[in-house]
Amino acid sequence: MSRFGVLSLLLGLALVAAEYDYDGYRIYELRPANAEQGELLYKLSQQGYDFLNLRRLLGQSSRVIVSPDQLENFEKLLSEQQLSHSLINENLGATIAEEFAQRQVQRRLSPISGKGRLSTDRYYTHEEITNYINDLADRFPSRVFLKTVGWSYEKRELKTITITNGDRRANKKVIFMDGGFHAREWISPAAVLYVIEQLVEKFDENAELLKDYDWIVLPVANPDGYEYTQTGTLARLFRKTRQPYKLLGQTCYGADPNRNFDFHWNEEGASSNPCSDTFAGPQPFSEPETQVVRDILHTYADRGIMYLTIHSYGNYLLYPWGWTSELPETWQDLDDVARAGGDAIKEATGTDYEVGSSTNVLYIAAGASDDYAFYAGFNISITMELSGGGITGFDPPASKIDEFVTETWIGIRAMAEKVIEKY
Ligand code: ARG
Ligand code: ZN
Repeated sequence: MSRFGVLSLLLGLALVAAEYDYDGYRIYELRPANAEQGELLYKLSQQGYDFLNLRRLLGQSSRVIVSPDQLENFEKLLSEQQLSHSLINENLGATIAEEFAQRQVQRRLSPISGKGRLSTDRYYTHEEITNYINDLADRFPSRVFLKTVGWSYEKRELKTITITNGDRRANKKVIFMDGGFHAREWISPAAVLYVIEQLVEKFDENAELLKDYDWIVLPVANPDGYEYTQTGTLARLFRKTRQPYKLLGQTCYGADPNRNFDFHWNEEGASSNPCSDTFAGPQPFSEPETQVVRDILHTYADRGIMYLTIHSYGNYLLYPWGWTSELPETWQDLDDVARAGGDAIKEATGTDYEVGSSTNVLYIAAGASDDYAFYAGFNISITMELSGGGITGFDPPASKIDEFVTETWIGIRAMAEKVIEKY
């Protein structure tokens, strides 16, 4: 590594490694006015600025967390570059603490009933989600099948739920969906659970979706991270897995599971710094969680028609490629399906979803699961970025869960219908 490389690595470490409580941290909204300013945002994100979402296109706005240490430089930059901005939050620490306290209350108000349905009243723990899945399999033994597909780094059990129409026909086409790749994106497992509930409990309404297709779902792909973000305000914005990595005597946790797949791994939009939020891992598939998803993808590749991976936030329906700005040969098919989802949502609720290739409408980022699934043989592969909420975007209030997950289901259902029509 060059001397400059080492230096910027150290700098990056100092910026991102500290266990912060977000006291005095600010959130700014930035609105680039031209392509250069858009590029500037991307560069900042590579330099240790923690972007909550990054939208480079003109007329769009991005949110970034600015630490007290970064503040002086950041404000200088704002005025030098005449970057249009507004201060959204003056003390992130206080806001996260408030949200945390509110959730504790909700947990008490809406205890889990044991058996039966999960409500959309609040977010659930991995254990509660697992119990629900187990219970579904007990209640619908002819249509629901569970399979242990592996273990997370901290030895949490990873289980897929396979939903069928119960006709016992083997080798149907497959739709594979996962949620909870990124720890802090809590709305994702909630939305995935709602899809499961619709397909299983509302089977009569959705029988068409299961006639020639089995749905295989992994509700929380990164349970260690998901659980960690529920442990306190310090941890709320954690994104990655929980395997520790040492660098120069310092420990940082996790790789970005969505940069850890072995397809153009670590080429673009990923970091080699273990303390970065987009750390690609020391090598491809270094994380047990991504190995699990890889193995599922290969197991079903020959009959896998659609792969859906649910993230938040930003209102996007993204398809390959994410590692290059070039489009795959069959991009029109990907676009048809994604657009069907976006159109259905727009019509039902008025919410806009932006549709396009990951690189072209969001940013370049190699080593993600969507590119890998497509390369492995899934005809359609889509990352769905749901709506944001709360001050950070990762905290839609519990009162919004129902609205968000029903809207997501409308989009997913429409995409599945389009897939069934085409394949
Ligand atoms: N927000 C997601 C991420 O940053 C988007 C991934 C889109 N896909 C891609 N191949 N870049 O991980
Ligand atoms: Zn994500």
